[in-house]
Amino acid sequence: MKTQVLPIDEESLAEARRILLSGGCVAFPTETVYGLGADARSDSAVRTIYAVKGRPSDNPLIVHVHKEYDLDGLVFDTPFAKRLREVFLPGPLTLVYKSRGTVSSVVSCGLDTLAVRVPRHDGAQRFLRAVGIPVAAPSANRSKHVSPVTAEHVYTDLNGRIPLILDGGASEGGIESTVCDVTGEYPIILREGLVTREQIASVVGECGVWQGDQSAPVRSPGMKYKHYAPACETKLFPAAELEGAIACFGAEEKAGRRVLALCEHAACDSFPKGKALDLGDTAEMFAANLYRLLREAETRCDVLIAVEPRARGGAMAGVLNRLRKACGEGK
Ligand code: TXA
Ligand code: MG
Repeated sequence: MKTQVLPIDEESLAEARRILLSGGCVAFPTETVYGLGADARSDSAVRTIYAVKGRPSDNPLIVHVHKEYDLDGLVFDTPFAKRLREVFLPGPLTLVYKSRGTVSSVVSCGLDTLAVRVPRHDGAQRFLRAVGIPVAAPSANRSKHVSPVTAEHVYTDLNGRIPLILDGGASEGGIESTVCDVTGEYPIILREGLVTREQIASVVGECGVWQGDQSAPVRSPGMKYKHYAPACETKLFPAAELEGAIACFGAEEKAGRRVLALCEHAACDSFPKGKALDLGDTAEMFAANLYRLLREAETRCDVLIAVEPRARGGAMAGVLNRLRKACGEGK
């Protein structure tokens, strides 16, 4: 199959609509990462997503809709979910509701809930409006690889496997949406992201974070898998162990391996010139740069020495979650 990469215009949107309505997959930009979309109403279209990605069949998908779409046809609303929508959507927040069962049961892997997202990205909105149907979409990477934040990243992973990638430029958010369960008495974050616990609590008074207790039933099945890993070996150091990271860098170079460091701006000078990938100096910059730099690392080095940024609070929870998972922790 030939994979076209097209800018978003009337012609490419008409082509995207044609592909989706005939059961195929289209990659599209969002403000978090690129998505791989298919008709959420069709069992076979949704199965195609799993096949294209090589995704485990027990990891449910998010349904994407445009901002005027009426959610009442898809899910059972609650007063506090409505408040969260008013404040945060369109934007990088996914809400998990009780499902009305109107989309394919393959989307939620048989769960009685449905995750819904209304992306803010203009290209995503135009795509979703053009197709007019609920679109099931995971991140548009091969399963277990780093999520894509450019059309080129999608092409690297899925060339020959899908007919069309809509190119909407680099995703400015850079990490996947915050996933928040709204089926209970108060919201519970299942996956941290750029919309933070503090922000959600400030709107509805209370917000929990699911702790991934091994004995508890899995609330967000995707969280149990290793994700986001680059192809190179990775070694992660806590912020306080910069000296250890520098020593490790030296030892790896001495052993003849191609080494790069990944760290916040202030720590870049601790590594040889040109050998540090600069994450920037705020949580938002870390998020925006992380996946792009992980993908750069895998093409340029055998081993990546990553040092955690020192900042804590706010969006750092999501950033550290992704960085640690990329480096093989929290599987
Ligand atoms: O930013 C994003 O959310 C991107 C863009 C494309 O929208 N999408 C994305 O999808 O990250 P994916 O498939 O890579 O991650 C979906 C996450 C998984 O952790 C999955 O377990 C969780 O959402 N999820 C989906 N449906 C769920 C449900 N019904 N209950 C609990 N968790 C659910
Ligand atoms: Mg993903």
